[in-house]
Amino acid sequence: MECNSCVVNDELSARLGGLLQILPVFRGAVRIDSWVPRKPTKPVDLRDSTRGVRLQRAMADAGVASRRGCEELIEDGHVTVNGKLVTELPAWVDPEEDRIVVAGKVVPMPERKVYVMLNKPARTLSTAKDEPGADRRTVVDLVDHPAASRLFPVGRLDYDTIGLILLTNDGELANRLTHPRYGVPKTYRVTVKGALNEDAAKEIERGIFLAQRKAGQTVGGSRTAHVEIEILAKERTKTVVALTLREGRNRQVRRMLAAVGYPVQKLERIGMGPVKLKGLARGEWRELTRHEIQDLKRSAASSGDAPSKQGRSGDGKKPKMPYMAPGVAEMPPNPGIRNRTIKNAINKARLPVTPKLEGRPPKKDE
Ligand code: URA
Repeated sequence: MECNSCVVNDELSARLGGLLQILPVFRGAVRIDSWVPRKPTKPVDLRDSTRGVRLQRAMADAGVASRRGCEELIEDGHVTVNGKLVTELPAWVDPEEDRIVVAGKVVPMPERKVYVMLNKPARTLSTAKDEPGADRRTVVDLVDHPAASRLFPVGRLDYDTIGLILLTNDGELANRLTHPRYGVPKTYRVTVKGALNEDAAKEIERGIFLAQRKAGQTVGGSRTAHVEIEILAKERTKTVVALTLREGRNRQVRRMLAAVGYPVQKLERIGMGPVKLKGLARGEWRELTRHEIQDLKRSAASSGDAPSKQGRSGDGKKPKMPYMAPGVAEMPPNPGIRNRTIKNAINKARLPVTPKLEGRPPKKDE
């Protein structure tokens, strides 16, 4: 198929001094006729500095020329953005959305990064694919996005855990959100069996010894990092708490609560860093807003400046509770306890740790 807009005019080519032949972007490395616009191009205000990056930088990052060289191409009238000739700088573009054309050839831009929030239902795997031979529903099956096949879940939730899970094709951010080094907090609303007492809450807060298993064998273990706990509602037969963790061990919430004698009945993730689960029915998904993406990136960047120690933020201080769970009273309130935050400082002394397989430190000879 002949594409008129792709034919570089000879005179122009000569004026560019062979640049078009040298740069890989113009050497036929990219088949222009296979380019499909991501969205219909629309008029945009290139003077709006919140749109993204400077035009010459987007061009230079795509390998067109040096920034200075790109400035010259722009000022000499060789560059259009979304069909409009741009000769004045500064001009600001969104490299993932805008169509930049230099001397009639489209500049290939990086794949658009997609960030999706899913309200995961129970009985759904949080991996992209099930094991061979099994055919269970996965979180990717539930996201009907044009880029769905390239999206992968950020971290894991158990098969029966419900609530917030992010999917993206941004590997760098996914790594930062899940690696304990960055200490990005994850908040869960947990319903446990029985009336959770303060001693158990303090134990959870200070850390529980959890075994580490590999290939069915216990290969050691360690105490969990600091956890924030807030009792949201409590009655004789069950308690609802908000737990905020900065690490993500296998089945961590369920194991910690089981270790202090309170089996989990329902587990829902309601927050990841600054992003909260809202506006979605169970099984529904949506793209994150621009603000949510910015906040998420900021939280993952700042937490990782220094390694997080014992789940604390990079500055070594006890992290602040980033998410104040709404005062949800799913059960008749107990006026003495409901919505009361268990303060760290109440009792710094160590309580005896529950003598179970998990929940106690190993003896030296174990
Ligand atoms: N902790 C758990 O025990 N399960 C989850 O799915 C997430 C955190």
